[in-house]
Amino acid sequence: MLQGKHIILGISGGIAAYKSVYLLRLLIKAGAEVQVVITPAGKEFITPVTLSALSGKPVVSEFFTANTGQWNSHVDLGLWADAMVIAPATASTIAKMANGVADNMLITTYLSAKAPVFVAPAMDLDMFAHPTTTRNIDLLRSYGNHIIEPTSGELASHLVGKGRMAEPESIVAHLEQFFASAQDLAGKNVLITAGPTYEKIDPVRFIGNYSSGKMGYAIAEEAARRGANVTIVSGPVSIKAQHESIKVIGIESAREMHQHCTQLFPAMDIAIMCAAVADYAPAQQFDAKIKREKDEIPTITLVKNPDIAADLGQMKTPRQKLIGFALETNDEEANAQAKLAKKNLDAIVLNSLRDKDACFGTDTNKITIFFADGSNKQYGLKPKAEVAKDIIDSII
Ligand code: C5P
Repeated sequence: MLQGKHIILGISGGIAAYKSVYLLRLLIKAGAEVQVVITPAGKEFITPVTLSALSGKPVVSEFFTANTGQWNSHVDLGLWADAMVIAPATASTIAKMANGVADNMLITTYLSAKAPVFVAPAMDLDMFAHPTTTRNIDLLRSYGNHIIEPTSGELASHLVGKGRMAEPESIVAHLEQFFASAQDLAGKNVLITAGPTYEKIDPVRFIGNYSSGKMGYAIAEEAARRGANVTIVSGPVSIKAQHESIKVIGIESAREMHQHCTQLFPAMDIAIMCAAVADYAPAQQFDAKIKREKDEIPTITLVKNPDIAADLGQMKTPRQKLIGFALETNDEEANAQAKLAKKNLDAIVLNSLRDKDACFGTDTNKITIFFADGSNKQYGLKPKAEVAKDIIDSII
């Protein structure tokens, strides 16, 4: 999978840099062409001589080569790469990446890189657990970077905890898996609904829900990365699609979502219904703001919204796959199975409000996927980007 791939190996200044030598050797053995970019602090831990001997290329560290004045182009490097791996990524490098502090060649290269970026953090347990680091890593993740989680164990400080850089074999496995799945949705048209719907009451009020759209957008990013033409029909959310090939159609109400989805569905290969669609909408929408009356409490009469997933289930042809979500608070499995059948879905992704950190607005989720053939797959709590990968893998 790595044969002929152009990989930038970014090394920052941490004890785990000694493992990067072995990582470099593994990458070269796997057939990759590797350009090492090292920070000034990184050079305190391992020497460029070792790295250039193993990679067969001069190591890049400074913006200029001192004696000739030759400029090292981070832009060219960023365009050359099929992937960039930053291992070890120290707390400082992660913070600079998250905030665009471009004061060394590794960060300028990162900011210029068009290719996917993999970040393998390595630091002491308390630095890793610090809210600043957590926030910076979340930021990097939200920009579409792949975080290769550190493991727990004995650290350079002899303290025991989470912060050990992932082993070189595991980093290579991540890259191989990434390239293996790189284009397996090429040419497929994928429709995704995401976010909440807002059902208008009057010009300033609506009925809505807590959906952030994060899960749907994460699935869209993963599908687009794997070559699909992705359209998101999205309720109001505060996040943006990152991948340039994702088309977003913004809507407010369930009726608008229904209208777009039924129109788009015949041209789709896969539809994933992630949106938290309101089941009911006010029967009447007021053009002027409803005023507070002294004694009278207004009554809002509701009417049923169309069930988008169920209607697409009716339209579905054998070449199409339709996947729904079920967010349950009780009798989770039975409810999910019932919805799978009722809406004529091929699979349904269950998440329970009983699971901590697995729902609205969080960056993590814990799912079970039930398939129409009666089988199911359970997963542990993971970042939504990884959950998205599991869902797409299952569809494939
Ligand atoms: O019936 P329930 O709302 O629990 O079903 C959830 C699944 O159905 C989700 O995939 C959701 O996106 C979809 N749905 C829909 N239109 C609705 C209600 C739910 O597409 N009106």
